[in-house]
Amino acid sequence: MRKPIIAGNWKMNKNPEEGANLVKELIPLVKDAACDVVVCVPATDLYAVKQAIGDSNIHLGAQNVHFKESGAYTGEISADMLVKSGVEYVIIGHSERRQYFGETDTTVNQRVLAAVKAGLIPIICVGEKKEERIAEYTDPLVTYQTLIALTGLTAEEVSKVVIAYEPVWAIGTGLTATDEQANETIGVIRKAIAGKYGQNVADQVRIQYGGSMKPANVKGLMAQCEIDGGLIGGASLVAEDFAKVVNFDK
Ligand code: 13P
Repeated sequence: MRKPIIAGNWKMNKNPEEGANLVKELIPLVKDAACDVVVCVPATDLYAVKQAIGDSNIHLGAQNVHFKESGAYTGEISADMLVKSGVEYVIIGHSERRQYFGETDTTVNQRVLAAVKAGLIPIICVGEKKEERIAEYTDPLVTYQTLIALTGLTAEEVSKVVIAYEPVWAIGTGLTATDEQANETIGVIRKAIAGKYGQNVADQVRIQYGGSMKPANVKGLMAQCEIDGGLIGGASLVAEDFAKVVNFDK
């Protein structure tokens, strides 16, 4: 019912030339993908990667967006600038932005509103830290993060967003949530959306898993009923690896 979506988050890796080359390698490997394929690249790579994407089935994503339309915000990039650069998706509220750049649930919500208003599809990241899982705060925390992020959107707008459940302890660590853990927490997120926007909306929202997702574990994760895709860090930087994740069903 929900079309899977596999997105690469290149983080602060690849210059424009390297990024374009990676996409050129990727195009033949993912051309028959049954899922939506997205690469979320550094802002400096957007132009070169867009050119490399051409008319292939790869979609362009960014890694952040500012919440104001324009003005004196040195160093920031607006939603309109992204749209006009050919961007369709934007990661918002990644845990690295929350950890290192002062991102809060409130600023995540502001960015989501700006992105949706401009016609971008936000990939909204939520997830607990290790100590929060141990203290059994995971369910209320991801519920709270999700509902705050979506505040102010209409039910129809909510149905089109993508959520990425990324347990912080599984990012870049080689540790993966078990298939069941990931499925269960994504189920909690979907239930939170159903509680506020209705089951019909919740059934349409695509919710990815992220955190050391790679060729070796993608099949098990994607076999879970609640998991609609992945947000891939390290494994998205190597064309063959990312293509194997994208082609999880082949
Ligand atoms: P890794 O796949 O490197 O663990 O990164 C996950 C992530 O943070 C994607 O946004």
